[in-house]
Amino acid sequence: MKTSIIFLLLIHLCIILKSGNITVAQINEDDIDTYATPKEVKGFDENTLFSPYTKQQWRSYQQEKINQGRKTQLNFIITYPNKTAVKGAKVYIKQLTSDFHWGCGMTHRILNNLAYKKWFASKFTAADFHNELKWYYTEPNPGQENYTDADAMINFADEHGIIVRGHTVLWDDVKYQQKWVKKLSPQKLLQAANKRVDSVVKRYKGRLVGWDVMNENLHHNFFEKRLGKNASALFYNRVYNIDPNTTLYMNEFNTTENVNDKWAAPEKYLRRLKKIRAYPGNSGIKMGIGLECHYGAEPIDLHYIRNSLTLLSQVGLPIWLTELDVKIDPTLENKSQLQVMYLEEILRESFCHASVKAIVIWTGASIDGCDVMCMTNEKLENTPVGDLIDKLMEEWKTGNIEVVSDSNGVSQVSVFNGRYEVTAVNPVTNVSSSVTLKVDTVSIPDKNVHLQILG
Ligand SMILES: *[C@@H]1O[C@H](CO)[C@@H](O)[C@H](O)[C@H]1NC(C)=O
Ligand SMILES: *[C@@H]1O[C@H](CO)[C@@H](O)[C@H](O)[C@H]1NC(C)=O
Ligand SMILES: *[C@@H]1O[C@H](CO)[C@@H](O)[C@H](O)[C@H]1NC(C)=O
Ligand SMILES: *[C@@H]1O[C@H](CO)[C@@H](O)[C@H](O)[C@H]1NC(C)=O
Ligand SMILES: *[C@@H]1O[C@H](CO)[C@@H](O)[C@H](O)[C@H]1NC(C)=O
Ligand SMILES: *[C@@H]1O[C@H](CO)[C@@H](O)[C@H](O)[C@H]1NC(C)=O
Ligand SMILES: *[C@@H]1O[C@H](CO)[C@@H](O)[C@H](O)[C@H]1NC(C)=O
Ligand SMILES: *[C@@H]1O[C@H](CO)[C@@H](O)[C@H](O)[C@H]1NC(C)=O
Repeated sequence: MKTSIIFLLLIHLCIILKSGNITVAQINEDDIDTYATPKEVKGFDENTLFSPYTKQQWRSYQQEKINQGRKTQLNFIITYPNKTAVKGAKVYIKQLTSDFHWGCGMTHRILNNLAYKKWFASKFTAADFHNELKWYYTEPNPGQENYTDADAMINFADEHGIIVRGHTVLWDDVKYQQKWVKKLSPQKLLQAANKRVDSVVKRYKGRLVGWDVMNENLHHNFFEKRLGKNASALFYNRVYNIDPNTTLYMNEFNTTENVNDKWAAPEKYLRRLKKIRAYPGNSGIKMGIGLECHYGAEPIDLHYIRNSLTLLSQVGLPIWLTELDVKIDPTLENKSQLQVMYLEEILRESFCHASVKAIVIWTGASIDGCDVMCMTNEKLENTPVGDLIDKLMEEWKTGNIEVVSDSNGVSQVSVFNGRYEVTAVNPVTNVSSSVTLKVDTVSIPDKNVHLQILG
């Protein structure tokens, strides 16, 4: 890569950081090999985390982006059939769904635990299974497939309107291959892997919101080593041909988490994505960007998170944070407070990027084992992490609100994008009229919602 390009890129990034401008200059994927941000974070310290800005400045940039990308300001205009304005009409705005999904990791332990099921369904609209869909789980021994747990978990999710990501069709890490898979000759491996793809994708075709096709394809290369460098692109093609309408994801760690990991930096990610799409037959694939977001191996760098998400957003694909957790050095004093503090900053920064369509927390209740962090204890009572998630869930929804129209029959309201039921009530007669509507940046171009009520 040319030095001049690195230089230009650095200048861009410096300008962005200094001006606090949240729009990154357009970057041509073809020109970039190294993505760099000035390193500012030196330790677990609030001052370096936000530096060179204050926490309030970060918050106000984030709020501005949320207002632009996640919320829509609407005018509800209430009239009588003769077109005169209704003054003082009560307008009830009820949010039915949100375009943004809160998700949580799920394991088979949920299946026999009614309280856990209720807890999960009351909070989350998305799920990612920890292991139950993985090849090693469904076919531990050759030819002995068992989808009992995955079937039951997907049925549970369906019953409660929870969308599920298919994690994962294949995994490129040698560590997670069954013993019998590791022993196969390349020819037999291709046969076995194709059979695996056909089996799991045909089984759940059309029922999932996305597939991780080749997990951790940037850090690992089990399949490429044995089947050639087009191996992953071929498997994406195979999944696409079976389940063409479902979004196919890459899923990787350390893309936003760690500025020092050269394997999975955002521009490497985009480059691989482009290669997969460029493979013959793959141009029609709906692709998505999966970011594991296992934070904490290094101090957290909010600038890097912002710049990475901004860069990844430029390709216009849905981004999911798929396994978000924050590991804190257990020997640190106040580690619980630090975990919550970092998690909050990561969540706030991630949420303000509208291309982030869902955030999946890894993991939920302590019943599932608190690998790194948990939202609840064994009794399903909140931990500090659980309190934080609840607080942000509340903050990032419109819920139910009630306004009153002014003398022009208008009430102006800013709501989070999603589906709504709106009811206007005549102040004198209580006659009402309702509509349901989809609110987002394109569905209501003039931002006016007209409701007519009888006199
Ligand atoms: C950010 O930069 C863009 C392009 O240079 C400019 O149009 C925009 O006004 C800037 N926004 C802010 C908030 O500075
Ligand atoms: C399949 O998996 C279920 C759930 O883990 C288990 O109860 C059952 O024994 C398994 N079936 C076979 C044939 O191994
Ligand atoms: C990979 O696929 C491309 C595009 O079809 C082809 O030109 C190339 O020869 C393939 N490489 C290998 C190693 O199979
Ligand atoms: C994909 O979606 C389109 C539009 O919703 C539909 O017409 C088509 O039948 C679907 N294809 C498959 C294979 O499900
Ligand atoms: C992420 O990258 C850093 C730096 O290379 C490394 O120390 C860390 O182990 C990586 N994370 C994982 C989960 O491998
Ligand atoms: C730990 O938290 C307490 C209370 O919030 C605070 O007074 C103290 O300074 C913190 N210690 C460290 C090392 O951050
Ligand atoms: C309209 O509803 C309000 C509140 O429910 C009630 O107090 C009032 O009597 C109702 N008016 C008519 C005309 O039904
Ligand atoms: C329109 O209809 C309302 C309700 O029936 C009535 O109060 C109002 O006087 C009408 N306005 C005109 C201009 O007819």
